[in-house]
Amino acid sequence: MNHFLAIENHTKEEIEELLALAEHYKAQPFSDVFKNKTLIALFFNPSTRTKTTFDLAATQLGGHCVCLEPGKSSWGIEAQEHAVMDGDKEEHLKDAAKVLSSYGDILALRSFPAFKDWKEEKKDSMLANLAKWSTKPVINMETISHPCQALAMIRAIKSKFSTLKHKKFVLTWIYHPQPLNTAVANSAGMIASMLGMDITIANPEGYDLDAGYLKLMGEHCKKNQASFRVVHDMNEAMEGADFVYAKSWGSLGQYGAFNQAVQDSHRGWIVDEKKMALTHHAYFSHCLPIRRNVKATDAVLDSEQCLIYEEAANRLPVQKAIITKLMEGNP
Ligand code: CP
Repeated sequence: MNHFLAIENHTKEEIEELLALAEHYKAQPFSDVFKNKTLIALFFNPSTRTKTTFDLAATQLGGHCVCLEPGKSSWGIEAQEHAVMDGDKEEHLKDAAKVLSSYGDILALRSFPAFKDWKEEKKDSMLANLAKWSTKPVINMETISHPCQALAMIRAIKSKFSTLKHKKFVLTWIYHPQPLNTAVANSAGMIASMLGMDITIANPEGYDLDAGYLKLMGEHCKKNQASFRVVHDMNEAMEGADFVYAKSWGSLGQYGAFNQAVQDSHRGWIVDEKKMALTHHAYFSHCLPIRRNVKATDAVLDSEQCLIYEEAANRLPVQKAIITKLMEGNP
């Protein structure tokens, strides 16, 4: 494996290998596969779980992690190629990538889209350019997709079912007062469709995920003889669900023109006990952080069917699996 940038860049077999390795690290947390090596993680956005687990993963594999926050504790970084840098950024991504990859063994990036121009931002150019200019492997810690989170989620699901084939996976939009990244939803639907689940995505009208991601998910389902549906009614989606994954995301139709009144008209999109009662005694999860009693009720989040803490715990063995695979390919 040269980089870990998106779920869809990998085969089903590679994903299964990463999951098996994560399983191994759950049982045996320590190793020296990253001995005396360094992961340099660039955080353009806040993080609790991703930052902590990459630091711990590097340490528990014998190495260590340096976290940089460009524009805060380190120089602001300009990512636009050929930019005339007369603004507030002191360093170009090209230079940072070359320098940091000469110091460290893996680079990692968290950089959310700016919600200005989806056509441009869907190119994920900061991540692509970091991978191009770095001489070492690069990990996506969340840009327009969140592949590390998707592995943690699917590992939580796999721990509850003997097979994923034809288990009904519901990815439902939930209300949040602001427009959030589509990354978690993109990667969650991608991995669940690759691994053979029947997929139903529920979101309000005007909040469909990017057509390119939906097309790919549909193709995976077709290949796996699984069903794929997008509906605009949360109750309809919930019926017979085996697993409910909740996530809020910004409307691509309102990209660069967020409409608070439209957003607030969807306040009813909350996961509560009544909606969970429509399911096939489904498990529930969310990537965290979550606004309690806005996105899902306390009753759902504190129920036995809720896997939020298992999924969050999975982040650590999953990061170790990714680091290990990248070191195999780049010793
Ligand atoms: N789910 C997730 O990536 O958590 P953080 O934003 O806290 O890293």
